[in-house]
Amino acid sequence: MSEPLVLVQTHGRVAVLTLNRPKALNALSNEVVAELAQAIRGFEADPNISVIVLTGNEKAFAAGADIGAMSQWNFSDVYNADYLGGDWQYLRDVRKPLIAAVAGYALGGGCELAMLCDMIIAAENARFGQPEIKLGIIPGYGGTQRLPRAIGKAKAMDLVLTARMISAQEADQMGLVSRVVPTEQLMEKTMEVAQTIASMSLPSVMMAKESINRAYESGLSEGLMFERRNFHALFSTEDQKEGMAAFVEKRQPDFKHK
Ligand code: CAA
Repeated sequence: MSEPLVLVQTHGRVAVLTLNRPKALNALSNEVVAELAQAIRGFEADPNISVIVLTGNEKAFAAGADIGAMSQWNFSDVYNADYLGGDWQYLRDVRKPLIAAVAGYALGGGCELAMLCDMIIAAENARFGQPEIKLGIIPGYGGTQRLPRAIGKAKAMDLVLTARMISAQEADQMGLVSRVVPTEQLMEKTMEVAQTIASMSLPSVMMAKESINRAYESGLSEGLMFERRNFHALFSTEDQKEGMAAFVEKRQPDFKHK
């Protein structure tokens, strides 16, 4: 039997998915993305999991979509198959928090996959970039949309039009990543963040994610209303009662994630 393209582990309420195509620097073939989406679908439905971590290896998070496969395709191949739709687009609809733990290259679709996640924890050796222009194409998995929202038009134009790679430190200064950590501590530090989030009430975590993402999709008034309705809705949860009771009683909350 062939090796899985995505390795799956769980640690308490955290699932860790490791891209496992090291010889091709974790290039994102449709098969890799299908396995990723299948694993995430399972964890979305699993009430025992609150947070999903995506990672690669020390050399590459993912060096982009699979250029070998793409080199054979013409317009009708990609259009008829709606390439980068389907499983690829499913990942943006995941409701539980996704954390990208990025070491090494996160290029093209790899950078876009990381940006689709809710947080990026970058190792000091991480390199980010959108080099599609060198292939005669453009980013096709959100790069021209998420990058300017994350780092602004001037920086996004620089990266997309010149194909320049940036270091973890530069990505941090631009606001692309949440934290930069020593390379050898990437998973340890990421798991600390993931376990912290996983210890919170899952409905409030998901509503916080949904509300922050709404900031990208709406005007301020609509976003504020959306936030307020989610805030109201959380008063119907057992965990809101528990969280506030624990504060009043000066103890740690024991969330039921309901
Ligand atoms: N697709 C397919 N194979 C890839 C790949 C990719 N995106 N990136 C690397 N590989 C393969 C290489 O072909 C090579 O395979 P072989 O050993 O069989 O020759 C192997 O991974 C190792 O790569 P290199 O020998 O090139 O390693 P390097 O250390 O010299 O260079 C690199 C590393 C700078 C990342 C270089 O591999 C590179 O430039 N990769 C392509 C990056 C890129 O252009 N990504 C964008 C893809 S397009 C896209 O993602 C579209 C979209 O928007 C969704």
